[in-house]
Amino acid sequence: MAKLYQIFEGVTRGLDGDGRGIIEIPGSRPIHANFTAPEDQVEVESLRRIKGKIYGQIVNLIKPGNERVVPRCPYAQTCGGCVWQFMDYEAQKKHKLELLNQPLEASHFTERIDTIIGAEDIYYFRNRMDYVFGPDGELGLKEPGSWCNYVDLKECHLLSAESSELLNVIRDLVKEFKLEPYEARKQTGALRYAVIREGKRSKERLLTLVTTSKQPIPDEFFEGLKKYTTTIYHGINDSLTDLSRGDQMILKHGQPLLREIINGITYYIPPQSFFQTNTAMAEKLQNTVLSKILPQESVLDLYCGVGFFSLALAKRGQKVKAIEIDAESIKCASQSATEQNLKVDFVASPAEDLSWAKESFDTLILDPPRAGLHPKVLSAVLEMAPKKIVYISCKFSRFVSELPSLSQNYTIQGMVALDLFPHTPHAEVVTVLVKKGA
Ligand SMILES: C[S@@+](CC[C@H](N)C(=O)[O-])C[C@H]1O[C@@H](n2cnc3c(N)ncnc32)[C@H](O)[C@@H]1O
Repeated sequence: MAKLYQIFEGVTRGLDGDGRGIIEIPGSRPIHANFTAPEDQVEVESLRRIKGKIYGQIVNLIKPGNERVVPRCPYAQTCGGCVWQFMDYEAQKKHKLELLNQPLEASHFTERIDTIIGAEDIYYFRNRMDYVFGPDGELGLKEPGSWCNYVDLKECHLLSAESSELLNVIRDLVKEFKLEPYEARKQTGALRYAVIREGKRSKERLLTLVTTSKQPIPDEFFEGLKKYTTTIYHGINDSLTDLSRGDQMILKHGQPLLREIINGITYYIPPQSFFQTNTAMAEKLQNTVLSKILPQESVLDLYCGVGFFSLALAKRGQKVKAIEIDAESIKCASQSATEQNLKVDFVASPAEDLSWAKESFDTLILDPPRAGLHPKVLSAVLEMAPKKIVYISCKFSRFVSELPSLSQNYTIQGMVALDLFPHTPHAEVVTVLVKKGA
């Protein structure tokens, strides 16, 4: 077993689920470290032992492997926003497929994902970023896996050039108005997060400045940000938990909602509600899901958000019922439906209250959060027994843990991955399950 705080020479042989390289060390256990790609020959320092695994940090790249490219961003091998930006995009997609297939293999399923739909834009593709304020005046993101090491970003290639400019303007205004960053350990200061959301198609930009109530934020501060935004909220969050959300949201400028247009449908997005974070790939995700559902099928859309799939199905004239826990999202989904003359039965309720379970539908769309399905929902789905389930998973290992239950009654008809998250190990997977004997 490798001792800690020692430097070892090794070769990176694979990648783990968090995107770290797995470095083979002769005569010792492998060391997991960020910012290394397969076949890199490296020197790595062992730093931590967690659950039998050793984690470290690359201290020297002796010989680069052939999957490395020169990243566009100067922070690309420090910042947690893009742990794979230094890796060729074709290699990224290949490794995502390998990582996605690992839980299937480990759980002895014979099916494999062999297709990943890649992104055309691998820079400036995100429509939301949650930038954090650090204790020393940093504004940016954290180092990968760290809760206390901040990267002060003067530029970021995930959202847009304009949003990088906005970050720099915020940083300058913070100095001008002598605003204090929040310090969790001392429980002092105000500034927590600057959350920027953009409608890539609507050209709108919504900023939420999340602060504690320990220091007032003058109106002149917000005034200086107006010309970079269409909406500004001040979110107040005094909780001990590190979240980029306001418990109280005060509209400081502009219209209350952000709009985004996907495949010709206008969606209204409340400042704190979920929306797919990659607009161009969300269009492909929507098309992929719609291609798995016949126009005559009735559909129940559980975890519907602001009506992302349901409104598109309604546009094809389908009968759709849609359930979502977030009342704000449902209000927006209904507004979109009314304005665009679309008919969907939207219901604001937690999926696990099973209000939907008495009706029957041909097809069920399941798009839960990373935690997956509540056990009550999983049982009710099996009991309701729709002919087809289209499951959209953003945490595929969680979906695979539900597969033993689902595969009692369902057969996997196809699985396709979509890369909504370039430069990270994450992907969305659309799985079609058909009822056995249907
Ligand atoms: C991954 S998002 C998908 C949303 C939507 N399908 C889309 O593509 O935009 C998951 C959604 O589930 C909602 N949600 C979380 N827990 C829920 C629950 N217990 N019951 C119903 N909806 C829930 C979240 O608010 C979020 O909108």
